[in-house]
Amino acid sequence: MEITSAKFVTSNSRADMCPKSDLPEYAFIGRSNVGKSSLINMLTNNSKLAMTSSTPGKTLLINHFMINNTWYLVDLPGYGYAQRGKKVMESIKNLIQHYVLERTQMTCLFVLIDSRLEPQKIDLEFIGWLGENGIPFALVFTKADKQSTSKTQQNVNRFLDTMKEQWEELPPHFITSSEKKTGRKELLDYIDSINRSL
Ligand code: GTP
Ligand code: MG
Repeated sequence: MEITSAKFVTSNSRADMCPKSDLPEYAFIGRSNVGKSSLINMLTNNSKLAMTSSTPGKTLLINHFMINNTWYLVDLPGYGYAQRGKKVMESIKNLIQHYVLERTQMTCLFVLIDSRLEPQKIDLEFIGWLGENGIPFALVFTKADKQSTSKTQQNVNRFLDTMKEQWEELPPHFITSSEKKTGRKELLDYIDSINRSL
């Protein structure tokens, strides 16, 4: 599948204010700074679509982007960024929980994991919570350009091995670099396969 049009639609501070539409949507979640907004720009070939920043905590709202007039990409704020204070962290946690649990149009949640790091407790806990709530998700390992392929593979394997301790079946996973456009076709084909099955 190729993306022929990508347009910003709305930013919302609450899940119940998001577009009233039954088009399927694919949302990106993960720790602050993991590369969610950059991935949306990479997929859409538009470096200015979603706002990115080298400082964590850039995306604070739920952002909907209409793709090919038939489905949405959704950029979410990151979890686990303590620097903004307890109150902001709590409100972001709340927003994410409501969106994930209540947004029935959300067809697959892509959980972004920094491919440079060993398995992080916060990511494993978040994924555990998705499992408890039966949320469909896939893993996206980001920033693969920042190290060797073998180091990336080693970290990916460690993450999947850790998941195997709790999960009978592993979710689909993708290795990406927004810098090098790695994994673009695989991700778009995966979304396309879901869209076709709906
Ligand atoms: P928040 O909105 O703050 O939660 O962050 P985010 O997850 O949306 O991250 P964002 O896309 O803003 O990227 C954070 C930083 O990482 C930026 O400086 C990006 O340029 C950089 N970055 C993101 N993806 C990649 C990648 O694949 N490779 C490299 N080298 N840098 C990346
Ligand atoms: Mg962002």
